Amino acid sequence: MLLQETLDLYEPENDTAMEDDLEEAIDHGILVSKLAFLLSKEMEMDENYCYTMAVAGMVHDIGKLKLGQFLYKRSNNTLTVEEMKYIRMHPAIGYEILKKYKYDDTILESVYHHHENYDGTGYPDNLKESAIPIGGRILRICDVYAALISDRRYRSAFNQETAINLLIEEVKNFDMGIFLAFLRVVHSEKFSDVNNFVHEINKKNYSWRKILHDGYY
Ligand SMILES: [Fe+2]
Repeated sequence: MLLQETLDLYEPENDTAMEDDLEEAIDHGILVSKLAFLLSKEMEMDENYCYTMAVAGMVHDIGKLKLGQFLYKRSNNTLTVEEMKYIRMHPAIGYEILKKYKYDDTILESVYHHHENYDGTGYPDNLKESAIPIGGRILRICDVYAALISDRRYRSAFNQETAINLLIEEVKNFDMGIFLAFLRVVHSEKFSDVNNFVHEINKKNYSWRKILHDGYY
């Protein structure tokens, strides 16, 4: 059913750029899912919670697909204030979609709060510290790391060391206990599976990647 909803957002006359956007969104979802699962395990959460967070990771940005036409078909990379307002709606839109399909409360609250910052500067509710549901705090770290180590249409991927340094610079946004657990995950043996997956997705030949690699961006 959720797949149907996703396909409904997808208009047949759209070109390869739109297909690439959908595939990129799915790759990002899988990556965040893997990270959220490993991080929850490292935090010694029970098996059921770890799988719940794997699902939350997969669907955390589903609200962005509703904004897809507007956000992805853009020709420049500078967001206007108006566009920022739309982007900030994606956690709430995702929440509504997932609620409709009766996803459980842990997933709903994790998705709704995945852009809250630990110091209270995030959105949608400017929640601070332990007021942010733990799933939201888990997804926040996984999402930022996943974005940094992936190629984006406006920049190439950062390597693992640089990505970690950038996370450290932004550490005010994260729960320190969860962040330290995340670092243990990154430096664990089982992380090679994640690195292999990242390697595969960064090799894909998306249409926008040709532009990226031609050096226009
Ligand atoms: Fe997001």
